[in-house]
Amino acid sequence: MNTGISRIPLILILLLLGGLPAQASQPAPIPASAPAPAPAPLQDGGNIEFMDNSQIVKVLSLGYLEAIAPPLSLQVFEPHEGRKRVYRVLPARSVFDAVFGNKWKEAKEIVFLSSDGYRATVPVAKFAGHEAFLAFAHDDGRPFMMVNTLQNNELVQLGPLYLVWDNVNSEALLESGASDMPYQIRAVELKSGDSFPKMTPPQDASSQARRGFVHFRKYCASCHAINGEGGTKGPELNFPVSVTEYIQSGYLKRWIENPQSIRYNTTMPGLGKEIPRREQVIEELIAYLEAMSIAKHDPAGVP
Ligand code: HEC
Repeated sequence: MNTGISRIPLILILLLLGGLPAQASQPAPIPASAPAPAPAPLQDGGNIEFMDNSQIVKVLSLGYLEAIAPPLSLQVFEPHEGRKRVYRVLPARSVFDAVFGNKWKEAKEIVFLSSDGYRATVPVAKFAGHEAFLAFAHDDGRPFMMVNTLQNNELVQLGPLYLVWDNVNSEALLESGASDMPYQIRAVELKSGDSFPKMTPPQDASSQARRGFVHFRKYCASCHAINGEGGTKGPELNFPVSVTEYIQSGYLKRWIENPQSIRYNTTMPGLGKEIPRREQVIEELIAYLEAMSIAKHDPAGVP
């Protein structure tokens, strides 16, 4: 029985949590030149880290972000639930401007790191072409959670921040489904170089495998790593043994198009039904995974 032992740290944690919000509710502006503050432990409505190519530049509370980018209410099509929802949101560009200045516009990608291991990589160009928002609450004040119908109806926390888009009237955004809509965002990072050297197919890979790589980055890398690069919400798919080596190809296709037809209670979502040329996309994804099975790089080794 360990109940007596586990209660002591819990009390300590509660005391800590009780002491911290007062600090978080009086945010002081952090000048760009100040040394990077230590990353704060995440609490409900807690602090968000902002990074520039692995360097922490700012750690800001939600209260501070609300002061620099005034909140509004926005109706979005919620692909995780298949219906419309109204969220309280902060305009993403205003947040990026205030935190990074003009620097974010020169970056190549913006990476959103989530508490559940999800790692969304969104091209900067997408933020120039479409209106993105950082949601922090439901408009009707319900707890900031949702039943994720794409993930076996799992009840998930959305806070502290959730990236949403003004997608209701945009076919292009609706087609990209939930892939660029990470929730539980705890860090936002600018990337100017190639973020995935170990995930890139070898020079002599076929054009089919190269197209598959583009799809993999868009639809899979947020949850899965290849050679240690990518999200950690799902398992590594290539190192040391590739999924193409132990899953029969017909079953690999089924993992991608309908994972619950293999494991009834899996939380992996099938490849979005709204994705154009879906069959071809799946074939190209498998060609990419096959190409990577002969391009293994030790995640712990030098790139
Ligand atoms: C939202 C996160 C998420 C996304 C997106 C996702 N997966 Fe998964 N995937 C998972 C999880 C979690 C598992 C483990 C499932 C289980 O064991 O029930 C998994 C399992 C798998 C497996 C089986 C691995 C094994 O060894 O059992 C394969 C293959 C796979 N995913 C491929 C893909 C591909 C290809 C894509 C992109 C089209 C993709 N996944 C997108 C979360 C995700």
